[in-house]
Amino acid sequence: MVTDLVQLGAGAARPPAELIFGDWYPALRARELRVGKMTKTMLLGVPLVLGRKKDGKIFAMRDLCPHRGIPLSAGWFDGETVQCKYHGWRFEPCSGQCVEIPSLTQFETLDPTKIYAGAYPCEERDGYAWVYLPEPGTGRVGDALPAVPELPKFSQRFRSAHLVADLPCNVDHGIIGLMDPAHGPFVHQAWWWRSRASIHEKEKHFEPIPQGFRMSAHAPSGNSAPYKLLGVYGEPITTTIDFVLPNRRYETIRCGDKWFSSLTTVTPVTPSTCRIDVIAAWNIFYAVPFVTSIATFFGARFVRQDQQTMIEQAEGLRFHPGLMLIDDADKPAKWYFGLKQARLKGSGEHPLSGPVTLHWRS
Ligand code: FES
Ligand SMILES: [Fe+2]
Repeated sequence: MVTDLVQLGAGAARPPAELIFGDWYPALRARELRVGKMTKTMLLGVPLVLGRKKDGKIFAMRDLCPHRGIPLSAGWFDGETVQCKYHGWRFEPCSGQCVEIPSLTQFETLDPTKIYAGAYPCEERDGYAWVYLPEPGTGRVGDALPAVPELPKFSQRFRSAHLVADLPCNVDHGIIGLMDPAHGPFVHQAWWWRSRASIHEKEKHFEPIPQGFRMSAHAPSGNSAPYKLLGVYGEPITTTIDFVLPNRRYETIRCGDKWFSSLTTVTPVTPSTCRIDVIAAWNIFYAVPFVTSIATFFGARFVRQDQQTMIEQAEGLRFHPGLMLIDDADKPAKWYFGLKQARLKGSGEHPLSGPVTLHWRS
C-alpha cells in the first residue's frame, strides 16, 4: 500500500516498515494547538499542519498547497482560514475547501470551492490530537470511520500524565520492543522495578481479540514494586494487557475501585522512524501530593531506558542484520507480524485460533 512512501524521510539506512493506513494515530499534544497558530508534524511520512480554529475545533491538513505544493504552514492562519504564502489561496482547514483565489477576475469561471487541499479527520481525546490517515489515493474520507481510540477510565476523578519519546527505528521494532517481556530485567533494572537477580519463570495466558490479542487478567509479577504498592489496599489486583492494531497497547490494573490505566502507542513518523506516546490515568493515591510528578518521573525514566536501547539497536540495524524471533518470549512479536500482514492483505486471518499459554523467564 505504501511503497510510494517508503523512500520518504528514510534518511539514514534504517530499514523502512510497511505502514498501516486507514486508522487513527496520535499526532500532537492537543495543548500545543492554539487559536491562530499552525503546528507542523509528520505521520506515516505525510507532512501535516495542525491548528485550532476560533470555535475551538482542531484540524489537520496535508502540509502542501494543492496549487503548487508549497507547505501551507509557511502561510498564515487567522483562526478561520489558512492562507497560502505563495498566491494567497485561502482554505477552510477542517474540510480543506478552497474559499478564495485572489487572482481570479470576473472574466474567469473557475469555482474555487470545487478545489480541496488535503484535510484529515482530527479529534481531541485524552489530551492528544488524533488524526485519521486514509489509504493513499482513496480520496476524501467518508463518515464510516473507526472509533477514535480512548484511554479506559473507571471513575470520575483521576490524575493523568503523558510521556513522549522519539525512536530512531521503524515502527515494527518500536512495537515489538514494547511488547517484548524478556528485556525488562536487563533494560529496566532499578530497585523499584526489577533486577536480573529477580528473574523467575512466568506463565501467561493470551487470547485473541479483534485486531489483536489480550494477556488475560492475571495477578501481576511479584517482582514489580509498583504493583506491590497496590497491595496496601488489601484487595486482589488484576492486570489486563491488550495489543490492538495498528499500534496500541492498553494496560489496565484494577484493585477494588482503585485503578491505573495506560495507553501506549508507537506511531510511524516516517517509514523508518517512530515515536512512542504514553497516556496514563489513575485514581490510586489520588490524594497524595506530587504523585503525578513522581509517576511522570519514573515513567519517563522507563521510557528513556527503552529509547536508549533502541538508539543503540538502530546502530546495529543500519547493517541490515538477519534477526531472530524465538518462542515463547518473542511469540507476541510473531503474532504482531501475523496480524499486520493479515490487515495489509485484508485476509481477515488471525494468528491465534484460541487461547494460548506462554512461558518465559523475566
Ligand atoms: S502555491 Fe499555494 S496558492 Fe499557489
Ligand atoms: Fe521497555
